[in-house]
Amino acid sequence: MAPNTTPPAGELRPGDRVTFDVDAVGAGGVGVGRVDGLTVLVPRALPGERVEVAIVRRRRAYAQGRVLTVVRSVPLRGVPPCPHFDLCNGCDWQHADAAAQLTFKRQVAEDQLRRIGRLTPPPEWRIAPAAQTLHYRDRVEFSFLATGAGTRPAFHAFAAEGAKDDDDESVEVPSPASLTPITDCKLVPPGHMRAALALAGWLDRALPRRGRGAKPPVYRLTVQGDAPQPAPGVPSEGGGGISLLLHAADADVARQLQRLGEALAAHLRGAAPAVRHVAVEFRQQRGRRRARSVILLGEATIGKQVGGRHWRVPPGAFFQVHASMAGQLLEAVLAEARGDTPRPDGDAGDAPDSSHAPRAPQALDLFCGVGFITLPLAQAGYDVLGVDVAEEAVLAAGDNARRWGLPQARFAAAHLGRPGALRRLLRDEPPPALIVVDPPRQGLPRELTTQLLSLDAPRLLYVSCDGGTFARDAARLAPRYRLTALRGFDMFPQTHHLELLGRFTRLPG
Ligand SMILES: C[S@@+](CC[C@H](N)C(=O)[O-])C[C@H]1O[C@@H](n2cnc3c(N)ncnc32)[C@H](O)[C@@H]1O
Repeated sequence: MAPNTTPPAGELRPGDRVTFDVDAVGAGGVGVGRVDGLTVLVPRALPGERVEVAIVRRRRAYAQGRVLTVVRSVPLRGVPPCPHFDLCNGCDWQHADAAAQLTFKRQVAEDQLRRIGRLTPPPEWRIAPAAQTLHYRDRVEFSFLATGAGTRPAFHAFAAEGAKDDDDESVEVPSPASLTPITDCKLVPPGHMRAALALAGWLDRALPRRGRGAKPPVYRLTVQGDAPQPAPGVPSEGGGGISLLLHAADADVARQLQRLGEALAAHLRGAAPAVRHVAVEFRQQRGRRRARSVILLGEATIGKQVGGRHWRVPPGAFFQVHASMAGQLLEAVLAEARGDTPRPDGDAGDAPDSSHAPRAPQALDLFCGVGFITLPLAQAGYDVLGVDVAEEAVLAAGDNARRWGLPQARFAAAHLGRPGALRRLLRDEPPPALIVVDPPRQGLPRELTTQLLSLDAPRLLYVSCDGGTFARDAARLAPRYRLTALRGFDMFPQTHHLELLGRFTRLPG
């Protein structure tokens, strides 16, 4: 191994250049190396490579760098299929082959479990690869950027020191400097991209430009699939329409868009014939949390289909973005819930058995969204209470339960981070045999973890999109639960993200 170049680690400052070997991948997908004992994190550098790096940020315990030159490459490095990869922050590993990406994800998840959770991965630990690694993403959010050639759809720009506004959900309108214009995206279906480009061109012509520094009239666009309800007896998977949700700067812009609605719909359908739903979301007054929406084309809700099941969803609500991997995740949750999976202690689980049980076992689905997991759990024989903070998602979940004919699936809106919120909801409920949690990437609020421990359910299934907070929460659950199985689902190929499903089994006693 070639020696690292200096300056010595203690003196490393932004602007310094160092050359060293990349040893591993770290959280966020960065390459990790050491310079005289100091950890240096370098986005897009791959393990095994030797890189010349400019230091861009110095923290007490580590430095961040930007690759200047790959001095020695590795065979797993390839040519990224996307022309925007070098400037766009949407993907981390388009330049690494698919098998290597899975190896990296496994290593990072194991490292987080060990380091943050002080746990060893359970013997039952595997990752399901994605059959489709490009154009798999059913939902995408674009910003808009004014360029010399007109308004363009845009994503967060790649920045070696970390994208400035990325990951900060309170930033509604990213600064133009943090964006890069996009004409193609290899993660989404081509029709989604065509629709976004068509909208950008139309906005330039139809809406007056605002002054410099003003919020653009339409500052964000959500494009996603709108799957038709399958006709009885007709197999239907995908092949659906496209939905556009325009986020308008204010009520005036929303009114203008409403007036121009027919022209806009005709223009969009000319460019992307699959467009069958267009809505505008806006806030009545500045700073108001709750958004209002008007429908310009199609119905109030859109269709989502996973594994032959069909949900109706408000266009602003959360829904899994990779249908085939979401189907695998759901089947794995159901297998756990039915007790299909072997248990180390020989316990067959608490699967519902209607022939013996006087009443169905109780399940809780926390962070339930529109009932993606709740409704199939109810179909599997559980009496399920789903809880989510998003009221429109909870209302849609209730509508879906009625459409599916499942009175045993009930829903409540609550902020699960508030002290005592879950306890109040469960006052008149029997103790749950099963708890499913699927929080956002911040993981479980601490107070909720304490409440979950006191419920003392025999099994807890934890669906996570963030290995770091999953590991932290696994450690917090450790006084009462053992992590007995861990599955990964490659929901987000080309990025460092990995979906996890952990089975936590109550300790004896
Ligand atoms: C990762 S999504 C999972 C949704 C659902 N399980 C699914 O698979 O479609 C996380 C959900 O948590 C909800 N959520 C976020 N913070 C919450 C909180 N403090 N209390 C309750 N729900 C919350 C969001 O509205 C979102 O629906």
